[in-house]
Amino acid sequence: MYDQLLAEAHAVLRKNDRGQWTVPAGDLYPHQWLWDSCFIAIGLRHVDIERAKTELRGLMRGQWRNGMLPNIIFSGGGLGFDRLLWNDAELAGVSKKIRTSGITQPPMLAEAVWRVGQKLKDKEQLAWYREMLPSIIRYHEWLYRERDPRQEGLVVIFHSYESGLDNSPYWIAELKKKGLPSWVKLIDKLHINWLINKARRDLSEAPIKERMSGDEALSFISGLEYLKRKGYDSSEIFKHPYMAVQDVAFNSILVRANSRLAQIAKAAGVKLPVELKAAMALNRRSLGQLWDEPSGQFYSRDYLSGELIKEPTVTTFLPLYAGTATPEQAKRLVRLMNNPSQYKTKWQLPCVPRSSDYFSHFRYWQGPVWLNINWLVIDGLARSGFDEEAQRLKKSSLALVGNNGCSEYFNPITGVGLGADNFSWTAALAIDLISA
Ligand code: GLC
Repeated sequence: MYDQLLAEAHAVLRKNDRGQWTVPAGDLYPHQWLWDSCFIAIGLRHVDIERAKTELRGLMRGQWRNGMLPNIIFSGGGLGFDRLLWNDAELAGVSKKIRTSGITQPPMLAEAVWRVGQKLKDKEQLAWYREMLPSIIRYHEWLYRERDPRQEGLVVIFHSYESGLDNSPYWIAELKKKGLPSWVKLIDKLHINWLINKARRDLSEAPIKERMSGDEALSFISGLEYLKRKGYDSSEIFKHPYMAVQDVAFNSILVRANSRLAQIAKAAGVKLPVELKAAMALNRRSLGQLWDEPSGQFYSRDYLSGELIKEPTVTTFLPLYAGTATPEQAKRLVRLMNNPSQYKTKWQLPCVPRSSDYFSHFRYWQGPVWLNINWLVIDGLARSGFDEEAQRLKKSSLALVGNNGCSEYFNPITGVGLGADNFSWTAALAIDLISA
């Protein structure tokens, strides 16, 4: 039934294959991204298990000495604008030949390693888990050591790019609190945004109404510059962060990754360090702090003020994937999902509800449907006992991609594909939804 879609999705992954890693989309994203490669490996395991392993090993190239996994490993040494923006040359502690960004992305690695392992037979599985385990442990230890200094059980991220949801409304709310950086205000005043827009690679792939606004893009660049100036040193950054958020998506994914890490360690016959186990347990218990009872939603929390950032987004559903939502919370979330004035659009799930002032049919993380989010929510619904809803969302996600191609994201009303064409994680996760 899905033969044609499978063939198309395979073709996308082949087209974006660079040997040791897969790029998210040839022209727009020419490097290796952390959570993209995890989703890609989850799909690739059904097609070519060795290539799926290679994809995840490719990520290990960039692991910093302190355990951090960067969100980007640059292709070809990362020459040009990207390198200028991110360059961490002296800081990474990885091989001089490998250039990476200095921030991370949602920790999907343990999930990907686990799922690839499930396709392997006894001896190979054991070898695979033993090979990958030390890197995952070092990464999770880094997250708790560097990003949860008060041991609250919720790791902090310093930039929206670490959440993977670049311009989601809760991040824009954080930017607004800060106000625009003075140089961005100056650009506005001089009316030279058009000049900046000319330099944006993303605008050669999609019209500006589908991407971030100029002010948003520049403010986020300002945030990156700040982190770079601080040498990506967490203890320095915590003294006066540009942005610091206890992100509900990131922490939900981490809690689930911890369960996978425990399963991998068990299968490999390895004991996890005691402090790490304690941090993992605390993380699991603390996720519930991000629940807002009156609205019946989960929100991310501003680390400095301690207040929930009450901009509704699809991240509210991710504690289902973590497996920490109570049955009552889960019921309310499913009602929210089926509410026509909220998340019930012709094509689900919009990444921002209709009721939000931010809701847009086109704009990046402000309304369109993203296949990776659907994949996480489908899993979350199924494990929370909502099989029917999970099946429905799975079927509609596959119809969406089948009708419109492997786009980066989709219009939640018409289903039309937006952003880059031939997007790797859309292809890989369609394969996984069909084959798992
Ligand atoms: C965009 C997305 C991010 C993704 C990257 C590469 O920045 O917001 O989640 O990892 O593109 O596809």
